[in-house]
Amino acid sequence: MASSSQDFKYRRILLKLSGEALMGEAGYGIEPAIIKRIAGEIAELSKNGVEIAIVIGGGNIFRGAGLAASGIDRVTADHMGMLATIMNSLAMQDALEQLGMHARVMSAIVINEICEDYIRRRAVRHLEKGRIVIFAAGTGNPFFTTDSAASLRAVEINADLLIKATKVDGIYSADPLREKAAERYDKLSYDEVIVQKLGIMDTTAIVLCRDNKMPLRVLNLMNPGSLMRAALGQNEGTLVS
Ligand code: GTP
Repeated sequence: MASSSQDFKYRRILLKLSGEALMGEAGYGIEPAIIKRIAGEIAELSKNGVEIAIVIGGGNIFRGAGLAASGIDRVTADHMGMLATIMNSLAMQDALEQLGMHARVMSAIVINEICEDYIRRRAVRHLEKGRIVIFAAGTGNPFFTTDSAASLRAVEINADLLIKATKVDGIYSADPLREKAAERYDKLSYDEVIVQKLGIMDTTAIVLCRDNKMPLRVLNLMNPGSLMRAALGQNEGTLVS
């Protein structure tokens, strides 16, 4: 879709991708065809002048909470999860670079032989120069999810919109994969999401958005063009504001 940058409603967007979004039929790890397709959609937006930052989860490799449930110390498990997000971030950086884009990975934990350390002002500078910034290692703290990292980074970099990409095309009254009668909401308030326990992001992440008036759009990245439509301000998925 050819769009000029002034058509876009949002100038700077933070995209939250779950680690699971990167895995294919194997149910584990990274499926090259899938990451390439997602990178293509992100590249398209970036080429149109929209500044994009990304937070990727690690659930396709290790999920801290899941490991803890199996008996590993929770802090250690969360550290393993953070390392998983760094692997996913490096894979996304590579996929974007293969498409000719400039991308920088910035980690919340120091691992600077592999990627840059997270420095807020530097991240903003990268975005201003048209580079895609991938924030790795969550918030760098155990007991926080990558959803909270996404809200935090969105607020820190003054993003105009936080997009949470999921496997379903918005927020539903119940799990649409299980309940046929589940209805999709076009719009919700932050408090409705919290009070109705809609479970789209953890409460910490939603509260951070609410307290900082960060609009949140939930959409399905598997719908081709969904990212572009959201950036144009079209009614894609569900808007929480
Ligand atoms: P400008 O200074 O704005 O031009 O940014 P730049 O990122 O192009 O320049 P810089 O010289 O800072 O970085 C050049 C390359 O080194 C980029 O690919 C960075 O991602 C990478 N880089 C920068 N800092 C680090 C670091 O601490 N660790 C690692 N591994 N790479 C880094």
